[in-house]
Amino acid sequence: MDDSHTQPTHASPPAASGSTLRALENLAATLDPRDFVITLVTGEGRRACLTVTSRHTAKGEDVYAAHGWYWWSWAERIALTDDAHGAAAKIALALSGPDQMVTAALPSTSAALTADHGQTPHLGPESGGPNIARIYDYWLDGKDHFAADRDAADDVLAEFPEVTQVARANRAFVARAVRHVAAQGVTQFIDVGVGLPTSPNVHEIARHANPAACTAYVDNDPVVLAHARALLADGPGVAVVAGDLRRPAPILADATLRALIDFRRPICVLLASVLHFLDLAEASTAVAAFTAFMAPGSYLVLSCGTSTGTDPALIKRLRAAYASTAPISDPTAHQVADWFTGLDLEPPGVMAVWDWRPDEPWCWLTPPAARIIGGVARKPGSRM
Ligand SMILES: C[S@@+](CC[C@H](N)C(=O)[O-])C[C@H]1O[C@@H](n2cnc3c(N)ncnc32)[C@H](O)[C@@H]1O
Repeated sequence: MDDSHTQPTHASPPAASGSTLRALENLAATLDPRDFVITLVTGEGRRACLTVTSRHTAKGEDVYAAHGWYWWSWAERIALTDDAHGAAAKIALALSGPDQMVTAALPSTSAALTADHGQTPHLGPESGGPNIARIYDYWLDGKDHFAADRDAADDVLAEFPEVTQVARANRAFVARAVRHVAAQGVTQFIDVGVGLPTSPNVHEIARHANPAACTAYVDNDPVVLAHARALLADGPGVAVVAGDLRRPAPILADATLRALIDFRRPICVLLASVLHFLDLAEASTAVAAFTAFMAPGSYLVLSCGTSTGTDPALIKRLRAAYASTAPISDPTAHQVADWFTGLDLEPPGVMAVWDWRPDEPWCWLTPPAARIIGGVARKPGSRM
């Protein structure tokens, strides 16, 4: 039998082996004492463990090491013992969130949460090149863009003029999806990769359904964040959080976010037209982290560009336009649909955003060579 799959038993605790103690000490050294009270518990006749308590939330857990794995006290694996950083990240995530979400299995998430994924350090919103949010704003007929953004955007439009319509169809999907989720009684929204303000903004739609609704806007672009902060003037119930979707853990633990959003109650997480700016592994990790954290009854609103049905020449154009800013990934429709695994998709499912519960049929000026697909899904269970 492969004993790496054997869960530790609590029946007759063996004396701690040297490798177990080393693994626990290694983990203790990896956790930041400014954030956690960490106690190595050993003793005759008892299984050695690390008791970790968050200084911020007072939540605590016992962590064991056995057979090459770190384990929770309830015997779910955390990470391999040679991945203390991955284990530390998962522990940090767990202790910053509600207890009932700690047990969610996050395959490969722990390592990904701490890895920087070679986060293309030369890229980013501050690279000085054409900017994701401003290019999108230009396509949406907004007013916040510079010549470099317009040049890059126009290069794409020269061959694929329908891209402006695709951008607008995505924005219209976001509005319909938020209206739909708000109508289900959800009053807490987290919009990650919010983009520049546009009308209507998510908090306006949510408030229309329920004036007490609150919205946290998250983005990694200082320009977007500055504009979003102006929305704070719209009164209480709006927060702005600087965060990079490639590192979901700090977003989920952010104090401003936590002050506004109660993770014990259902939330709606929006990941609209942002995941294709991450590589596929980063995107999968981000979706898994957010959905694991959501209380039952929460909703995921997701849209993403896909290679399925998109002209490869357009993907090439987009990669050129964003070359100094972000990678462009091209998940298949199947890969996008996979992100909803474990959630209950709202009808009609995952499809081109313009076909998702349209208010009226979308009328194309040019047949689209680009596809953004999306859907809305509910986490099973009820906490409303
Ligand atoms: C195309 S806009 C989408 C705006 C809005 N979500 C929508 O669908 O209408 C993409 C936004 O994602 C943001 N973004 C890109 N990569 C990001 C990342 N790694 N973390 C957070 N935001 C990111 C960009 O700054 C931009 O504001």
